[in-house]
Amino acid sequence: MSINTETILVIDDKKNIREVLKDFLETEGYMVVTCGTGEEALNLIEENLPDIVLTDFKLPGIDGIELTRKIHVLNSEMPIILFTAYGSISSAVEAIKAGGYDYLTKPLDYDLLKIVLRRALDQKLIKQENLLLKEEVAKRFNLDKLIGKSRAMQKLFSLIKTVAASSSAVLIEGEYGTGKELIAKAIHRYSDRQGKPFIIVDCSALPEGLLESELFGYERGAFTGASNRKKGRIELAEGGTVFLDEIGEMSLALQSKLLRVIEEKQLVRLGGLHPISIDFRLITATNRDLKSEVVSGNFRADLFYRLNVIRVKAPALRDRKEDVPLLVDHFLAKFNRQEGKSISGVRPDAMNMLLSYNWPGNVRELENCIERMSVICPEKELDTEYLPQEIKEAAALHYGSTEKVKVAVAEGIQDMDRCFNIDADSYTYTGSYIDSTGNMHLDRVERETVLKALEKANWNKSKAARLLNIDRKALYNRIKKYNLL
Ligand SMILES: Nc1ncnc2c1ncn2[C@@H]1O[C@H](COP(=O)(O)OP(=O)(O)OP(=O)(O)O)[C@@H](O)[C@H]1O
Ligand SMILES: [Mg+2]
Repeated sequence: MSINTETILVIDDKKNIREVLKDFLETEGYMVVTCGTGEEALNLIEENLPDIVLTDFKLPGIDGIELTRKIHVLNSEMPIILFTAYGSISSAVEAIKAGGYDYLTKPLDYDLLKIVLRRALDQKLIKQENLLLKEEVAKRFNLDKLIGKSRAMQKLFSLIKTVAASSSAVLIEGEYGTGKELIAKAIHRYSDRQGKPFIIVDCSALPEGLLESELFGYERGAFTGASNRKKGRIELAEGGTVFLDEIGEMSLALQSKLLRVIEEKQLVRLGGLHPISIDFRLITATNRDLKSEVVSGNFRADLFYRLNVIRVKAPALRDRKEDVPLLVDHFLAKFNRQEGKSISGVRPDAMNMLLSYNWPGNVRELENCIERMSVICPEKELDTEYLPQEIKEAAALHYGSTEKVKVAVAEGIQDMDRCFNIDADSYTYTGSYIDSTGNMHLDRVERETVLKALEKANWNKSKAARLLNIDRKALYNRIKKYNLL
């Protein structure tokens, strides 16, 4: 009993050979389709018939090499086995280089054919299974639109799912661009409020009066210009979720009004008399430390405790750099689609620099960086020369006196100028970094970079150290080394 079930396409211009092969392979359990030319074969493959191709090398019309190439354009995973006369083995080798799987010499050894076929088909299967596994893994690194494989993000994903099941208020804290809005959306999407509205209000975008009427709505005649009744955003969220972004920016007066709405689950429109009951879940976000805002009197303590029932911290990108390559792939795919490009990845040198950078603007900064690079890069892979200046700057210093700084300046001295923003008039750089023997003077690069950072930071050392992505001690050492004070 045979377990072979795949379909084999046999191509040979001689009818008797096709038939002998067909008989043999069918007794082995395979399904067999035959044809006499490469052109016919390509049509059959386009119709997605076979799992594997078995072909004579010498055919009328296109030969084995060309056929192999053409098949791989249609289907890069298709295994192709060629058979050839002893005299033309070298051409068969060429066909293997063009993507063929293996070749057999004529007259065919049927036992060998059986083994080679089975092995090729099994390998194809394993490849496909690996691909599926990869997709499975990718799913684990993805929650709604949030991406991350780091421990911090994996923990965040499970927290989101747990939190989603409850109706408690959630306070999301995190720096700029860490994905606070995405987290809020994911909580809503995983909750049973999912089919109901998700309403976003950015508390920093509107002046106090407008924010109030936007949140609570108003009755006709409530104020000059209120010619019609208008429902507020909270009311519009009935049954769903309200996401108040930048809650730290809300005035104290409005904070107490919001507190009342949360406590009573009712609101009164501006100029209205009757309270309206509303069922909504509240999620807030801030990039401030709300607790210290409470201490300094800028935020009401009672409201803080109401909002902070569940606290979710969005981790900074610099604390989970293992997510950088994953995010890069994600954004590359997005901008490839958007820009109609086919950039396949990032060269290792450039990836090292992306990994060494501090990402003060977090994922948003990374996203913008990849977008910009995708637009300007004409090549298949993103290279160091397309990195934004601040990343080159940081990398040059980060790799300081190692060989790797060459990466940062590989484009040559002219790019150093751009890279470090050196004013050509006040600084004659020609030959300064690279001497006549072509050796680079890394200390000059380093000195210049430290100086630039200090100037940029108005000689605030903590700030300069942050710009350079080094700690204060390392900065002091360099200031001393280069006599910069
Ligand atoms: N983990 C992530 N996976 C994929 N994309 C992300 C992730 N985090 C953030 N982003 C993307 O980065 C950008 C910024 O995210 P978002 O607006 O949610 O951040 P934020 O914390 O609200 O920032 P801000 O405080 O500046 O408003 C968005 O385009 C978002 O899609
Ligand atoms: Mg935001």
